Amino acid sequence: MRSEPLLSVNNLTVDLLTAKSALRPVDGVSYSVRQGECLAIVGESGSGKTVMNFAPLGLMPTGVATALSGSVKFDGRELVGLSEPELRKFRGKSIGFIFQDPMSALNPVRRIGRQIAEMAELHLNMTHAAAEARALDLVKLVGISDPAARLRQYPHELSGGLRQRIVIAIALAGEPKLLIADEPTTALDVTVQAQILRLLKDLQQRLNMAMVLITHDMGVVAGAADNIVVMYAARAAELGPVDRVLVNPRHPYTKGLINAIPRREDPIGSEFRGLPGVPPTLGAPIKGCAFAPRCDLAVAACSANRPPLVPALDGRVLVACPVVNQGKAAA
Ligand SMILES: Nc1ncnc2c1ncn2[C@@H]1O[C@H](COP(=O)(O)OP(=O)(O)OP(=O)(O)O)[C@@H](O)[C@H]1O
Ligand SMILES: [Mg+2]
Repeated sequence: MRSEPLLSVNNLTVDLLTAKSALRPVDGVSYSVRQGECLAIVGESGSGKTVMNFAPLGLMPTGVATALSGSVKFDGRELVGLSEPELRKFRGKSIGFIFQDPMSALNPVRRIGRQIAEMAELHLNMTHAAAEARALDLVKLVGISDPAARLRQYPHELSGGLRQRIVIAIALAGEPKLLIADEPTTALDVTVQAQILRLLKDLQQRLNMAMVLITHDMGVVAGAADNIVVMYAARAAELGPVDRVLVNPRHPYTKGLINAIPRREDPIGSEFRGLPGVPPTLGAPIKGCAFAPRCDLAVAACSANRPPLVPALDGRVLVACPVVNQGKAAA
C-alpha cells in the first residue's frame, strides 16, 4: 500500500491585500507530495508558485495581509489557521526552504560556519560544539571540498555555486522532512545550474526527503521530479507524473512550455520559441479559462466557465481544458 502524502494541499486559495490592491494569486489549487518524492511546480512569472508555497507557512513579506482558504496538511497537521508561533515550529525544522532571492539567503557579515551552526542550535537544540560539528558534516554533505577552511569564510569569498551549496546546507540543518526549493538554480551559470540540480536530487534521494522544486523552466523538470503541477494564472492547468506530462502533454499551455525548451539541434542564434502573449493580471476574477486569449485551440466555451480538472490517460493526469476534455467528466 502507498503511504499517506507528507504534504497534502487541497483547494488552496490565497488572497493578498496590500495598501494598493487586492489579488488572488492562488485560486483553488490541489496537489500532494509523498516522502521521498519530488514535485515540480512550473509556470511563468507571476503564476503564483512562490505565494502558493510560502503563504501557508506565514512567509509573506510584512505589509501584505494574507487570507487563506482550503487545506494544507503537513505530516498529519493542518497548517491553515495556525498562529504565527505555531507555524514557526515547522519553518526551517521539519520544512526546510531555499528562497528565490539568493541575496537574502546569507548574512554577508557572518562566517559561513556560524550561519549553519546557528540553524542546528536553533532547530535541533544542539550545544555550540555539537552544532559546529554538524556544520562541518553539512558542508561535506553538500559536496564542498576543504570544508573546514570554507566554514571560516564569508559569503562574498565564495563563487555563486558554492554559495548555493551553503544555502542548501542551511536548509538541511534542521533535518527537514520536506524541502521547498524556489528557483534554486535560476541565479547561477548554466553549467553550475546542472551541478546544483544534481546535488539537490541526490540529497533528496539519500535523505529520503520530500521536495517541492519551483521553477519556470520545463528543462529542469525531466530528470529531477516525479510529479508536476503546471500553474497558469493562479490555477493548475495540468498535473500528473512527469513522465506522462512531458511525453504526452494535454493542456495547450503545457505544450507551449515544452515547446519553449531550447533543443540541442537548434541552430546557434535561432529565435527563442517563447509563448506569444502575456499572462493576465490577477486583480479581477477570470470567468473562463485564463489561457484562452493566448490559446490556438480556444472556442467560445473556453471563456464561459472555469474549466474543471478532468482525468486523462489512465486517470493519473488531470487537465483543465474544455477543448481537450470535451465530453469527459470532472475529477
Ligand atoms: N508581496 C507581494 N505584494 C503584492 N503582490 C504580490 C506579492 N507577492 C506576490 N504578489 C503577486 O502575486 C502574484 C503571484 O506571485 P508569485 O511570486 O507567487 O509568482 P511566481 O509564480 O513565483 O513568479 P516568479 O516566477 O516571477 O517567481 C503576482 O501577480 C505577484 O505580483
Ligand atoms: Mg516565484
